[in-house]
Amino acid sequence: MAVKHVDYSEIDFAKQGGDGSITHSDLENLLKMKDQYKDFQLLMMKYDCALSEVRTKLDVLNKELSLRNNRNPFEAIKMRIKTPMSIYNKLEAKGLDFSLDNIKKNISDIAGIRVICSFVDDIYMLADCLAKQDDIEVIQKKDYIEKPKKSGYRSLHLIIEVPIFLTQEKEFMKVEVQFRTIAMDFWASLEHKMKYKKNIENQDVISDDLKFSADLINQLDLRMQQIREKIDASEE
Ligand code: GTP
Ligand code: MG
Repeated sequence: MAVKHVDYSEIDFAKQGGDGSITHSDLENLLKMKDQYKDFQLLMMKYDCALSEVRTKLDVLNKELSLRNNRNPFEAIKMRIKTPMSIYNKLEAKGLDFSLDNIKKNISDIAGIRVICSFVDDIYMLADCLAKQDDIEVIQKKDYIEKPKKSGYRSLHLIIEVPIFLTQEKEFMKVEVQFRTIAMDFWASLEHKMKYKKNIENQDVISDDLKFSADLINQLDLRMQQIREKIDASEE
C-alpha cells in the first residue's frame, strides 16, 4: 500500500519554493512567516496528528471490510500537509494575512488525505462509515462524482473535524478527505499537470479531450463495478 507522508518537522522554510528555486519576494514572504515559526510548527504538528487519526480510522475499516468482503475497500492512501509557501499563497489569494488564526479559520485543506479505491460503491461506503463515527463531524461534503466539475473532475470530498488528544487539551482539527477511484486519480494527475503548466499549445483541444476521457472513465468505473457484482454473485 502506497503511503506518502510529509513530516511537518522536516519542513524547511527556505526550501519551499515549489521547484526548489526561491525568488526575492518568496524570501520576503518566508521571513514574515518565520516570526511565528514555533507556533506554526505546533499547529502543523496538530494537523499531522489529525492525519494520523484519520489514517488509523481508515486502516481499521480496511481491515474489517477486507475480511468480510474479501477485497480491500481502498487500494492506496496518500497524505500530505500543505507546505508553508502554499498556505501563504492561499491566504494571500483570499486577501488575508499570514496568521495562525487565519490559517485555522480560512483554510480547510492543511491536512489532506486521499483515499484511492477500485470501485465507486466502496467510496460511498467508506465515506459513510467514516462520517458516522461519533467523534467525527462532517463540516462539508462535495460530491463531484454525482455532480462532476466542468473540467470533468470527479471525486468525493469531505471536510471533517477530528479530535486530537494532547497533554493538556483536546482539539478539533480539520482534515480534507478526497475519495476517488484509481481511474479518477489517474485522470486528475494528468489534468493537474496541464492546469499548472504554462504556455500549453492547443489547451482548448486538450481540455475537451480530458473532459471526454473523464466521461469514458466514469463509464469504465461503473462497468467494472457491474462486472465485480456479477463475479461476487456467482461466488459460493
Ligand atoms: P481549493 O481552494 O483548490 O482547495 O478548492 P475549493 O476550496 O473550491 O475546494 P474543491 O473541493 O473544489 O477542491 C479541492 C481540491 O480538489 C483541490 O485542491 C484539488 O486537489 C482537487 N480538485 C478540485 N477540482 C479539481 C480539478 O478540476 N482538477 C483536479 N485535477 N483536481 C481538482
Ligand atoms: Mg485544496
